[in-house]
Amino acid sequence: MSTPALRVLLCASEIFPLAKTGGLADASAALAAALERLRVDVHLFMPAYASAIDQIVDLGPPQALPEIMGHAGGLVLTGKTPDSGVPVSLVDYPHLFRDGGGLYVDADGQERHDNPQRFAVMSHAACRFALGELNHARFDLVHCNDWHTGLLPLLLKTRSTPGSPASVFTIHNMAFQGLCPMDRLPELDLGLANDQLGRVEYYGHASFLKAGLEFADELTAVSPRYADEIQTEEFGFGLEGVMQARSDRLTGILNGIDRSIWSPSVSPWIAANFDRDHLEGKAACKRQLQRELGLVENPKAPLMIFIGRLTWQKMADVLLEALPHYLALEPDRQFALLGSGDPVLEDAFVRLASEQAGRMWVSTVYSEESAHRLHAGGDLLIHGSRFEPCGLTQLYAMQFGTIPIVRPVGGLADTVVEASPETLAAGTATGIYFAETDTEAMLAGINRAISLYRCPQVWQRLQQSAMQADFSWDRSARAYLSIYERALARIGVHGHGNR
Ligand code: ADP
Ligand code: GLC
Repeated sequence: MSTPALRVLLCASEIFPLAKTGGLADASAALAAALERLRVDVHLFMPAYASAIDQIVDLGPPQALPEIMGHAGGLVLTGKTPDSGVPVSLVDYPHLFRDGGGLYVDADGQERHDNPQRFAVMSHAACRFALGELNHARFDLVHCNDWHTGLLPLLLKTRSTPGSPASVFTIHNMAFQGLCPMDRLPELDLGLANDQLGRVEYYGHASFLKAGLEFADELTAVSPRYADEIQTEEFGFGLEGVMQARSDRLTGILNGIDRSIWSPSVSPWIAANFDRDHLEGKAACKRQLQRELGLVENPKAPLMIFIGRLTWQKMADVLLEALPHYLALEPDRQFALLGSGDPVLEDAFVRLASEQAGRMWVSTVYSEESAHRLHAGGDLLIHGSRFEPCGLTQLYAMQFGTIPIVRPVGGLADTVVEASPETLAAGTATGIYFAETDTEAMLAGINRAISLYRCPQVWQRLQQSAMQADFSWDRSARAYLSIYERALARIGVHGHGNR
């Protein structure tokens, strides 16, 4: 008789297309689909946001949750994701997860003051679900992602009985820690012993992220470089000591991309489909994009794009300072930005665009469709990051033959090959690096990229090697599978059907 497939509960605060604010949603959805292809019995778990309830399919009967942290009337709704058909359960407390605001902000755009409580409730519900307490078979392993799920490894340990699931915690971003005042810890109902408090405490607060890092059986970060970086003061956000102490449990695994969504040969939203051997379609996309965005219709004009959150992490402040110089240097240079975030930066970018008619376009809305069109029609992607755990935008850009200009940190260093004389000659270059976080360094990187852009033969080669870079999820999913096996071995379980 064959061994049953490994049962994994993958818990995240956002999963595409049910809910998304950033790369976590893409990564969790695509990993689940790739694990299914490896015959892992994977089940997703997330909050029942309104967008998730609207999109879930094959909904079964709801399961009632017992009262959690004083919140009564909770339900777990189980169905499938609309695209990949992966089983998914949504924890439903209307007053916590669908009260008209965003995923983490209220209806006025302010960060929700009760985020720790909301995600503590989600973690309690996930723990009960994983332990098989809701009329559902128990899971072998729980895969947690970012601070929202940080309490889950701890809850699994404090409630552990023989046969309890192992846990893996993936760090997508160390900057977001989920902090709550220590004196509010009792309401989270964690069952922590006094001598365990230090494993949760972070400078006078309880840190959900630290709890995840301390209690999970295995840890992963979303790129090998980031796994090293977070053990240093510069990138550890005060948790570098914890990371050093647990470095034997930490592995870097690169995110992949879902090519059934992010590929110029299949994208339904672009003016013409294309691939690395037929770049004419990209020229058509650029023409259409320039027209649509009100930019001067010039096929030779370098069109630089930015897609992402307007935050300190993404060096949006430095980009704002660099842009007037970028535009002033040559009259045909163009720029398009799709992103939202810091309201002061949003306003400043919008104002600058209004002074640069025909040369600059800015949108602060969130639009998957526009993201595809910008990737398809752009020439260069500016992706400065003060830190970057992995970064998906540069991977998407490369697939669409748009050359990334990056600061080589974290996943940017692991995924973009700098255009040096050697790599250009060898045909392996895929992007341009700049080292520092100041405006001059960013501009120097951009200018170097534009000088390559002005040499069509060199540029086309660069585009073709960027487009053939392989970031398949299947390879990463296999790496996760071996971490799952290590985590299971840590709790004494050996040999599974997916070996
Ligand atoms: P992060 O998760 O740090 O924001 P990633 O590069 O991993 O960075 O992922 C960002 C994701 O969010 C990409 O899928 C990108 O296309 C998307 N994104 C960010 N801002 C927008 C926007 N305004 N409209 C559409 N997609 C966006
Ligand atoms: C985070 C990181 C980003 C990464 C994404 C998915 O939001 O900032 O670098 O690509 O998670 O793992």
